[in-house]
Amino acid sequence: MRAWYKYLLIDAKEDALKDIDENFEDHIKTMNYAQEKGFSSKEDFYQTYYENHHERYKTYQQMLTANISLEEEVLFLGSGRCVNEAVLKEQGYRVTCSDLNVLKPVQTLFPELSYVSYDVTKGVYPEKKVDVIVALSVFFLFDQNRLREVIQNMKGSLTPGGTIIFDMGGAEDNVWTRFFDWIVQGFEMFIKMIYVNLLRAQRMKLIKKQHGFRYKDKEIINLFAQEGFTLKDIDRSDYTTELERSLVLGRLSRSIMVVRKFLSRIGRVSPYVRIFVFQREHS
Ligand SMILES: C[S@@+](CC[C@H](N)C(=O)[O-])C[C@H]1O[C@@H](n2cnc3c(N)ncnc32)[C@H](O)[C@@H]1O
Repeated sequence: MRAWYKYLLIDAKEDALKDIDENFEDHIKTMNYAQEKGFSSKEDFYQTYYENHHERYKTYQQMLTANISLEEEVLFLGSGRCVNEAVLKEQGYRVTCSDLNVLKPVQTLFPELSYVSYDVTKGVYPEKKVDVIVALSVFFLFDQNRLREVIQNMKGSLTPGGTIIFDMGGAEDNVWTRFFDWIVQGFEMFIKMIYVNLLRAQRMKLIKKQHGFRYKDKEIINLFAQEGFTLKDIDRSDYTTELERSLVLGRLSRSIMVVRKFLSRIGRVSPYVRIFVFQREHS
């Protein structure tokens, strides 16, 4: 595991941003939860946050329906806008959304969904034991000690033989992601800072903000194995998103199809989506 940083340009007079999001207000800013777009109707919501949004939600959906049955009680952690939760509910699944706090616009649009405020670091899920726990793009927020506690809390919240399905919210820690996180993105933002300060006469400064943690696949597998979980499946996909974090590659990929195709080949070293399925031991 290593700390995962992003480089940002901010106004030179602003204070440096706090590292890693700590509370729901921080997550509201990072995830842009306050934006009202997409809440005029359910159709508008699905168009905005599912059909026309990041492809990862559709990949999640396939993996979820392949691993969950209609009879099982499913608890989602860190639900945010509850995108997959709403789609599954429409299909007849028994889902509960949870997060540090409830997003009111989502609750208003989907009154048929259950919502609970639950911090997974604070203890086992207090309501009842569930058959499946799902966490999509949440665990990258926790360092190894915290993640171990979270795994123990999930174990205590699951029925024996229950399932955990999660996506790590980014590619693994390897030589390629190190190169891209530090060298490519840091260097590009440095050049951009010089450009805006000299040529556009703005006063911007470059800061490094911790986004979360990158884990190797084998570190994840070991952590879960130590707590009595067996790996059932891993699905890796989306080979372009990590490379498109680069300003240059992102722009080229969006405008030239052949570049996008090329990135989707070389990007196999850093799949953005890594969905793990683990089963809790029966005892
Ligand atoms: C990157 S967002 C992902 C949201 C959603 N799952 C998705 O894929 O769109 C991470 C979410 O985890 C939530 N979160 C952060 N720490 C948490 C914790 N300790 N317990 C439960 N949820 C947490 C945040 O509030 C945020 O909504």
